[in-house]
Amino acid sequence: MDPRIELIGERLEKVENLIPVASGKGGVGKSLIASTTALITSERGHDVGLLDMDIHGPSAHVILGAKGLDFPEEEKGVLPPTVSGIKFMSTVYYSGDKPSPLRGEDISHAIREFLSITRWGSLDYLFVDMPPGVGNEVLDTIQLIRNPEFLLVTTPSKVALSTVKKLVRMLSELNISMRGVVENMKTESSPDIAGEVEEMGVPHLGEIRFDHDLEHAIGSPDEILRTKFAEDLKNIFLKENTLSL
Ligand SMILES: Nc1ncnc2c1ncn2[C@@H]1O[C@H](COP(=O)(O)OP(=O)(O)OP(=O)(O)O)[C@@H](O)[C@H]1O
Ligand SMILES: [Mg+2]
Repeated sequence: MDPRIELIGERLEKVENLIPVASGKGGVGKSLIASTTALITSERGHDVGLLDMDIHGPSAHVILGAKGLDFPEEEKGVLPPTVSGIKFMSTVYYSGDKPSPLRGEDISHAIREFLSITRWGSLDYLFVDMPPGVGNEVLDTIQLIRNPEFLLVTTPSKVALSTVKKLVRMLSELNISMRGVVENMKTESSPDIAGEVEEMGVPHLGEIRFDHDLEHAIGSPDEILRTKFAEDLKNIFLKENTLSL
């Protein structure tokens, strides 16, 4: 057996809640939701980590405005640097702005390496920003990480919803927990998809309105926390007490 698998278990031993933020579809707001949720829970006093698992298109560092992307401190593994109170780990610390042209098995290797070197310590929440779709990253997360509880993201579009349905079916077949579905970029003309989400057997946690001011706040955590986007997200978690805020 790959010795890294046991090590990954040890690295994540003291993480209370491990929440991958995923969707079958790209561009639905996974990275914004993962990063903002990390900021919100951290602001409420929890110990929070954020792992950018999108090896081809890491973007959480852009959202958080993480500066000084040098190699993190190494001490029997790697200590994730703290960005706006969040322990943050991303492959950009290693690849910088260069693309990472990995595929198939190479991605799995990179993920194992990444998970087995990172020393998270004790955390209440570790949010994982997943790449779109149901590729290696999702399958590896399920296999390598003990008890992940997925937070799924869709838009009100039939196109997004149909791919999320596929992901939900796959996760249910594998008996993986799902906290629920967040509906993002809701507008006045959006169809009502809450019923269709509940029919999949997962809770529809709530809606986030389309927020024209969000783009301007990217790169500044303080500004992000003041957006309508963050307000809607916070209300979703408060309503169902999904994240004990
Ligand atoms: N509620 C919203 N209102 C307005 N813009 C939004 C909203 N949610 C996300 N966006 C914008 O949509 C774009 C895509 O968001 P994001 O990068 O978080 O999606 P993603 O699902 O992570 O994409 P990818 O699949 O490429 O990783 C970003 O420019 C973001 O600012
Ligand atoms: Mg993303």
